[in-house]
Amino acid sequence: MTQIQATTPAETKAIEEMLTASGYSKTAINYYIDKPNMGLISDAEITSEMTGTCGDTMGIYIKMDNGVVGDAKYQVMGCAGAISAAMAVVDLIKGKDLDYARSIDDGVVFKALQEIPVKKHHCIQLAVKTLHKALDAHRLQKTA
Ligand code: FES
Repeated sequence: MTQIQATTPAETKAIEEMLTASGYSKTAINYYIDKPNMGLISDAEITSEMTGTCGDTMGIYIKMDNGVVGDAKYQVMGCAGAISAAMAVVDLIKGKDLDYARSIDDGVVFKALQEIPVKKHHCIQLAVKTLHKALDAHRLQKTA
């Protein structure tokens, strides 16, 4: 569960080179470095947390707006694969309804990331499972 923080352009470049050599696409690397959807939504209506077998942990926060996902964020304590997958999931579900969000699977996220190392495919699963856990809990709440 290591996160490398870049503080200078040279460090960012070094991280980019390292991740490229490891098999990450430019898209996945940008998600990891920019972390556009990282954070917390304190009044989120749909949330869940999950820890993978690797020990990495993430939480998802979804706020609805007129029947679609108005905003969503992940908090991720995890690897570059986990962070890039979580960031991609948010971009996939924003502005979409919950049926569409439910249809997101590992393959859809992998396609959005274009390429991440084979050893990191389980990181995509963690991001998707966290999303589905939140959606399942929300559905149960609504039918209770
Ligand atoms: Fe645990 Fe990537 S190694 S999610």
